[in-house]
Amino acid sequence: MPSVTKDSAEARVPPAGCRALAHSNIALAKYWGKRDIERNLPDVPSLSLTLAALSTTTLVRFDPDARADEVTLNGAPAEEGAAAKIRTLLDRVRREAGLAWHAQVITGNDFPTASGLASSASGFAALALAALGAAGLSWPSPAVSALARASSVSAARSIFGGFVALEAGAAQAEPVAIDTTALRMVIAVTQTAPKKVGSTQGMLRTQDTSPYYEAWRSAAPRIYSELRGALARGDLERVGEAMEQSTLCMHATMLAAAPAISYFSPQTIAAMDCVRDLRAAGTFAYFTMDAGPHVKVLTLADRAERVRRELETVPGVHRVLVSAAGAGARIVEEP
Ligand code: DP6
Repeated sequence: MPSVTKDSAEARVPPAGCRALAHSNIALAKYWGKRDIERNLPDVPSLSLTLAALSTTTLVRFDPDARADEVTLNGAPAEEGAAAKIRTLLDRVRREAGLAWHAQVITGNDFPTASGLASSASGFAALALAALGAAGLSWPSPAVSALARASSVSAARSIFGGFVALEAGAAQAEPVAIDTTALRMVIAVTQTAPKKVGSTQGMLRTQDTSPYYEAWRSAAPRIYSELRGALARGDLERVGEAMEQSTLCMHATMLAAAPAISYFSPQTIAAMDCVRDLRAAGTFAYFTMDAGPHVKVLTLADRAERVRRELETVPGVHRVLVSAAGAGARIVEEP
């Protein structure tokens, strides 16, 4: 990193700050477990699809007159846990830029926060890009991805659009150049309350206590390779099968943690059964779920309406969203 004097750093700071938008992503091959807790490096490889329909927009402004960092999340001051993680990222950027000023951060999601719809992925991707821009730094995407990953591993993937891979132990994600136009992700939102066990806490407990963690650790790379190979061949059925196996292996290892971690609600099971029924009736549809009760369904563009209609009939499903693949994180102009 070139060294910068404080004066030149401050001269580079745009007074209006920098606003960035990042989309959320859903992992087809899941990440669960840390190889290096301090550096926040993943223990298993993952592969995701960035989603156009879910996004976070974040404004960061470094202000010479501010007395402290100020974080507003969806119109209210952020709670201390989230604010502390945000300050850690800002501190990294300040160090790199040679800047001492505090920042104002205003961030908003267009979907429920901390509900298993991966708000930390889009949140830290948007924050990383906005904070760098606000500090007058312009980094290449892999470096932005590594900065986002240090805060939340899944955020590394939201820097890129379409399919994105993150290898085990890797510092940054990389785009996977495979056409996404035929695909849709249909999201059955089953509950909007914040999740009970956050993903960081959940995976650390799993690593520490689940007798099945080692089995997951050896199965995950195999499932990832299988999925990535099937994607490259255009074998979408195999992609769907590997995707379901990845999520079920991940949830099986956490069900065996002590105390157990379960993100399943009765509606989750009902939605998964609905997907199996659709498939039995000849519709391309495969499910995945993350650290929350929602069910996400991979399907084809011309089947998405049918999948949506069926999921809407599942009791306890509040809302169904259909998303195409989204682009990578980007700087946006003032609205
Ligand atoms: C189930 O990226 O939220 O969504 O690195 O501790 O912030 P931290 O975890 P996070 O975990 C995401 C887990 C997952 C699977 C996935 O997105 O790959």
